[in-house]
Amino acid sequence: MNDKPVTLSSLRAMKARGEKIVCLTAYDAGFARVLEDAGVEVLLVGDSLGNVVQGHGTTLPVTLDDMVYHTACVARGSRRALVMSDLPFASDATPLRALDSAARLMAEGGAHMVKIEGGRVMAEAVRTLSDRGLPVCGHLGLLPQSVHKTGYRVQGRDADGAARLLADARELEEAGADMLLLECVPAELAAQVSGNARVPVIGIGAGASCDGQVLVLYDVLGITPGKRPSFAADFLSGTTGGVAAAATAYVRAVKEGAFPAAEHIPA
Ligand code: KIV
Repeated sequence: MNDKPVTLSSLRAMKARGEKIVCLTAYDAGFARVLEDAGVEVLLVGDSLGNVVQGHGTTLPVTLDDMVYHTACVARGSRRALVMSDLPFASDATPLRALDSAARLMAEGGAHMVKIEGGRVMAEAVRTLSDRGLPVCGHLGLLPQSVHKTGYRVQGRDADGAARLLADARELEEAGADMLLLECVPAELAAQVSGNARVPVIGIGAGASCDGQVLVLYDVLGITPGKRPSFAADFLSGTTGGVAAAATAYVRAVKEGAFPAAEHIPA
């Protein structure tokens, strides 16, 4: 196994040579180690921990302290993966708050990159972080922190929505985003965003043309609280060998382009 740390430049090089980037959520040290050993390149400490770890119905109750705690757990368990951590609900309400929050996730938590939900409205926050040397991933499409306004549905389906998303992606990249993440976006639109962007674009429920894929760990292990999203897959039930084998199967499926398959792509 390659022991070299995963960096922004190695991820950009993967995009350039067409090698799929594998990302999975992690919330603690034990899973971080197993996932990384299986070949996961980016460990996302997602605020989905509100749903899967804390038992909430949404990500909104997750606090910055929660995120710092889980990020530190993941960072301690990881040696080579790039650790990306979510700025939780309202912790990025102003550019300066976003900077303070991101600084905690990086300094106390050990994150290498933070993820911000939102399009052009977050461009100033992205610029504030990026200009000071903090790597940022912009999260577009379905935004779980906005669920009470948008619901959980595919975004960018009509022409206006698609044009807005393409413009948002451009604005975030111009503001200094080092990566984009698209959640629940039609596959053709996600392919356009990935084709236009110079930075890697990671998809979840966004088709197979993104530069990489991410899933929530609990979906991959078949322990989704409630109904598993249609774009996700259980990689544990089809394997013998437990969590490590499931993670290896997920990594292989993404690298070979076998995941997402047609049934995981929103219509
Ligand atoms: O919080 C999270 O796990 C995420 C993924 C759904 C991409 O943002």
